[in-house]
Amino acid sequence: MKLIGLNRGEVKRLFKEGKVTIAVYGLGKMGLPLAAVFADHGANVIGVDISEKVVEMVNRGENHVKEEPGLSELVKKNVGAGRLRATTDGVWAAKQADVMVILVPTLTDERGNLKLDPVYDVAKKIAKGLEKGDIVITEATMPPGTTESLIPILEEGGLKLGDFGLAHAPERTMTGTAIRDITGQYPKIVGASDEKTLEAVIGIYETINKKGVISMSSIKAAEAVKVFEGVYRDVNIALANELALWCEEHGLDALEVFKAANTQPYCHLHMPGAGVGGHCIPLYPWFVINLAKKTNPRLVKTAREINDSMPHHVVELTIKGLNEAGRPLKGSNILVLGLTFRGGVKEFMKSPAIPIIRELKEWGAKVHAYDPLCTKEDAERFGAEWKEDFKDVDALVIVTDHREFKNLKLDEIAKKVRTKVIIDGRNVLDAKKAEELGFVYLRVGKV
Ligand SMILES: NC(=O)c1ccc[n+]([C@@H]2O[C@H](COP(=O)([O-])OP(=O)(O)OC[C@H]3O[C@@H](n4cnc5c(N)ncnc54)[C@H](O)[C@@H]3O)[C@@H](O)[C@H]2O)c1
Repeated sequence: MKLIGLNRGEVKRLFKEGKVTIAVYGLGKMGLPLAAVFADHGANVIGVDISEKVVEMVNRGENHVKEEPGLSELVKKNVGAGRLRATTDGVWAAKQADVMVILVPTLTDERGNLKLDPVYDVAKKIAKGLEKGDIVITEATMPPGTTESLIPILEEGGLKLGDFGLAHAPERTMTGTAIRDITGQYPKIVGASDEKTLEAVIGIYETINKKGVISMSSIKAAEAVKVFEGVYRDVNIALANELALWCEEHGLDALEVFKAANTQPYCHLHMPGAGVGGHCIPLYPWFVINLAKKTNPRLVKTAREINDSMPHHVVELTIKGLNEAGRPLKGSNILVLGLTFRGGVKEFMKSPAIPIIRELKEWGAKVHAYDPLCTKEDAERFGAEWKEDFKDVDALVIVTDHREFKNLKLDEIAKKVRTKVIIDGRNVLDAKKAEELGFVYLRVGKV
């Protein structure tokens, strides 16, 4: 059922009655949860992916995004009920669907330079199946202006914008909390090409999101919301890191100061740490920087510089800690704990572990690594030797806030290591306990 021209109430009713067909392009960490949630609220959902393996798994009712709580049950239930199926045929899916959602990767290099090939590929397929009254929604994170750059491609099928609607509704979530977030942790942000499309898209997201929808005046404004959320985090983490370095210079414990300062409602000092990784926070500032023609986003650039310098600072702390324990870094056994960019997620993009291992090796240290989500091969790819015990270690360097590291048994570790030094790059350990056991314990913001 085509939705343009209907009010949000009618859209919600038709959605729940199973009369709306939605094609979700990209069945990855974000796309599969979204497809399953749409289906669970009554829509007839076709998931599209270039990976035959993913498509086959979904059609068997299996979830391949194992780290997403609740997703396996949701996929099984909705495939079983006939509301969710998958295909590799994006043109066929577009012909069946009334709404097409693009949630494929928006690939960038480390400076946010985009490779939008997957998005363009999907847009070309949609163009071949686009019908009057259809709505195309981008959910993938995009530099402002990108969704509208798809208009000429979508019009290649012969229709003009206005015959079909276009909208942007950014994913405001992350791996591990996707279902919770999609269904109502935060309101959905929506911008559309015209009022009628906006009304219909509001109806779609109000059906699945208990927190409702914030409608924006344009597609570009909706794109900017998601990008600015990431920039806010990056700049504020940089501020926390800068103040943490200042605290180190002045013999203060940054966490103690931040905690007290944050009891005032206008102060939200973030957590300082070993660096900012992932596909989102360190990259979105580059969207802003790269698109600035007349303005000069100095603060955003400086924040990037500060956060990118933190892995080097962790190496400096390692040298300092070892020196306090009477050892040089050269020839010492360093155990890096954590290869992924954040706890609980196996993602390596811009992980601080990469530069930390590289620099420690340049200084002549013997670098070992362990990560509960990784393999020996992952460590070797990073240039470190896999090590699952603490024997003969001279310094533990914690780079990732995995749950397992918060529960390290320091009393047992103290008996196994050769030198008692801990560099806590994620503030996960109890400083007092470490010091009582005789460790030299340093963390970002407390030396
Ligand atoms: N992962 C996150 O935490 C997160 C959070 C918010 C936003 N996002 C955004 O969501 C988008 C998708 O990210 P993700 O994490 O789900 O990616 P992902 O890598 O987990 O999954 C992407 C899926 O798209 C498929 N795909 C690639 N090219 C395709 C094509 N041309 N046609 C059809 N399918 C194709 C892949 O096979 C894969 O299954 C990105 O724009 C990302 O920035 C991700």
